Amino acid sequence: MENIEKIEEKAVPEKKKRIFSAIQPSGQMTLGNYLGAIRNWVALQDEFECIYATANLHAITVRQDPKKLKENTTNLFALLIASGVDPEKCVFFHQSQVPAHAELSWVLSTYTQFGELSRMTQFKDKSAKHADNINAGLFTYPSLMAADILLYQADMVPVGADQKQHLELTRTIAERFNGVYGNTFVVPEPYITKTAARVMSLLDPSKKMSKSDTNTKSFILMVDEPATIMKKFRSAVTDSEASVRYAEGKDGINNLMEIYSACTGLNFEQIEDEFRGKGYGDFKTAVGEAVVAQLEPIQVRYKELLKDKKYLDELAQKGAESASKIAKRTIDKVYRKVGLVR
Ligand code: TRP
Repeated sequence: MENIEKIEEKAVPEKKKRIFSAIQPSGQMTLGNYLGAIRNWVALQDEFECIYATANLHAITVRQDPKKLKENTTNLFALLIASGVDPEKCVFFHQSQVPAHAELSWVLSTYTQFGELSRMTQFKDKSAKHADNINAGLFTYPSLMAADILLYQADMVPVGADQKQHLELTRTIAERFNGVYGNTFVVPEPYITKTAARVMSLLDPSKKMSKSDTNTKSFILMVDEPATIMKKFRSAVTDSEASVRYAEGKDGINNLMEIYSACTGLNFEQIEDEFRGKGYGDFKTAVGEAVVAQLEPIQVRYKELLKDKKYLDELAQKGAESASKIAKRTIDKVYRKVGLVR
């Protein structure tokens, strides 16, 4: 059986590389999430075989209101589709719909060392932030993430800086398991994109844009009204030089240039040319308008999609069925190799 599987795989010429990624449904998405990750998901769909999920199992590592969690999960699913994630082109589902994620996570947790988990900076950050609830799931979070990726034999994972350490650990776990049981998992590579933008806070551009910032003017939500977006850009921090150019020490302007570049496709030189002799007011208005032009059509589709929750559920269900088929091959193989009765 295993031999036949291998031959079949080899017989397919130029198989597309497979990508896996997931986003936690932990509330509203920001412009940073959009330009840094979501837009990238959309771009990858044509070139690769993409498998995407909402990471709702990961979300419960911090306390969630059940009703809100469910709502956030469906909303995220709709928002991503509205952004261009196309269930016809990729496999898209909710992590909780495919039990093999939890099953493999358990097995992998026995191949993950306490010391390794202790060194994860996200664990250290989150346990400092949620000191009243440092649960075991928060600690073993990377084993579940490894399961997400290894279950689908993903070749590549697009990750931002904050998830790089988790991907490294995933590779370590995969290699360790392969070392004991022979080739079982594809060892995934990080997929670094040239196009992903790193969007900083509008009020403190030394920090990443974050929706958990106490001042709502520091971030743009994907669902913010156009007027709100314009207002937030108008109050963005700049400097006293009044010259639109990318340079050290001009973090506020650099951030706005990065955003403008990501939305218009212009490079920094072209942006400097466009705004030579103009003030920051003009520039901020242009940035706001460019962002509105990106987000407004998504917002329209998003509202439309949310009118039909049944359709969204059906799409996720179909995605989960496709995902389960791929996942089953891996989890069956793992159980067999480990010696677990199936
Ligand atoms: N931990 C990731 C985050 O918070 C989300 C995630 C879960 C993920 N499983 C994944 C990302 C697998 C990439 C691959 O951003």
